[in-house]
Amino acid sequence: MPIEIKHLTHVYMPGSPFEARALNDICLDIRDGEFIGIIGHTGSGKSTLISYFNGLERAKPGTVFVGGVDLGSKDTDLIAVRRTVGLVFQYPEYQLFEETVEKDIAFGPTNLGLPPEEIERRVVHAMQLVGLDPSRAKKSPFDLSGGQKRRVAIAGVLAMDPQILVLDEPAAGLDPAGRHEMLELIRDIHESGVTIVMVSHSMDDVGKYCDRLFVLSHGEVAYQGAPAEVFVHGEALNAIGLDVPECAKLAKRLRDAGFDIPMDAYRLEDVAGYIIDNIGKGRRGA
Ligand SMILES: Nc1ncnc2c1ncn2[C@@H]1O[C@H](COP(=O)(O)OP(=O)(O)O)[C@@H](O)[C@H]1O
Ligand SMILES: [Mg+2]
Repeated sequence: MPIEIKHLTHVYMPGSPFEARALNDICLDIRDGEFIGIIGHTGSGKSTLISYFNGLERAKPGTVFVGGVDLGSKDTDLIAVRRTVGLVFQYPEYQLFEETVEKDIAFGPTNLGLPPEEIERRVVHAMQLVGLDPSRAKKSPFDLSGGQKRRVAIAGVLAMDPQILVLDEPAAGLDPAGRHEMLELIRDIHESGVTIVMVSHSMDDVGKYCDRLFVLSHGEVAYQGAPAEVFVHGEALNAIGLDVPECAKLAKRLRDAGFDIPMDAYRLEDVAGYIIDNIGKGRRGA
């Protein structure tokens, strides 16, 4: 189910001395099955933008379409939209509240009025998707580690069976191993057929996982495209507080030094593979 945003502007506290233009004339589109990265410096408008994806905010001015349905229309059933687009807020573990993991995950489907067997099926499936051991089901979510709690929160959104999952900085605050696990988990969810929109401020993370990026700066889409297309703007990205992945920098240095490294080599595996296959071989043969 595609998302299409046209000329969206958002101003916080308009007309007051605190007026802040968080989004300015944003246009973007997200296609079925993509793994999208929304990246930008703190305050660039990422969280404000995604609050429009499931109708938490109504566009004025601008339009937001999900699967062709105008979320700004008074006739639109926003509850149906929220089943289609699951939103995982930043630090979602703070919103856990039930006594057990399974009750927390079941909260959304229970509110939908689904039959108990279907709720049970969804809870089991969601726990599987996020890699939570079934033995945790009856435990209190508050006894789990930070990373595990976050998985419970994500499972709760997945139990609504969304077609699009939007995550606001899902790796924030986790240690390096926890970050890696979380990102791999999101990749697995994507591979299970869910469209992913991931907000991040790590170019390394979005470069590794995403098909297409939207770079926000001061509430505007500054750059968009496949990671390779975005990373060529290295210096301009630096100027808006972002850095390209280390491997993209290395590839550029080698390219500048005359090596014929393809523009779309920016992931560690690709750059390392190129060096081993071409540069390394040359040396050995010399
Ligand atoms: N509730 C709010 N009231 C007023 N200004 C806000 C509010 N939330 C965010 N802003 C401002 O809007 C801009 C974009 O914020 P946000 O969408 O949170 O950016 P990001 O998620 O990229 O850090 C910032 O300048 C921020 O200070
Ligand atoms: Mg934010």
